[in-house]
Amino acid sequence: MSLRPILIHPDPRLKTVCAPVSALTDDLRRLADDMLETMYEAPGIGLAAPQVGVLSRLIVMDCVKDRDAAPRPMVLFNPEVVWASEARSTYEEGCLSIPEQFAEVERPAEVRVRWTGRDGREEEDLFSGLWAICVQHEIDHLNGRLFIDYLSPLRRQMITRRMQKLKRERAKA
Ligand code: NI
Repeated sequence: MSLRPILIHPDPRLKTVCAPVSALTDDLRRLADDMLETMYEAPGIGLAAPQVGVLSRLIVMDCVKDRDAAPRPMVLFNPEVVWASEARSTYEEGCLSIPEQFAEVERPAEVRVRWTGRDGREEEDLFSGLWAICVQHEIDHLNGRLFIDYLSPLRRQMITRRMQKLKRERAKA
């Protein structure tokens, strides 16, 4: 496994609608494993393929926050929300592609998601709590949508300017 560089907003690849995965290849499974390693290393609770520059519908996540609890890595190919609750919840979200910026985003509190697992099997499950927030945030990435797209244009612009500055600084270093 190897770490993959994470793209920082703004980047046109983070604004792209990603293509469905048609066949699960060893390359794609390797990518999923690399993404999990990259996510744990960051550290983060979710990562979408476009964040490492691959424009395919693949996300990984692990929302187990308790350090003493067993990790629960999840790999979801072609994830799709098939049901969303009317009840909504608000959470202060962040993103590995928008480091150190956080903002409250309101989303459905629970979602039912269908996907293809790492082993190629079709799966479906109900997500709630932090898992529901994370899976919706990551699926948004596959549609070229970032959490800052839920904010006011002014707030979004402020964060984007900060990220442009961060990228200039990193380029110089
Ligand atoms: Ni994100």
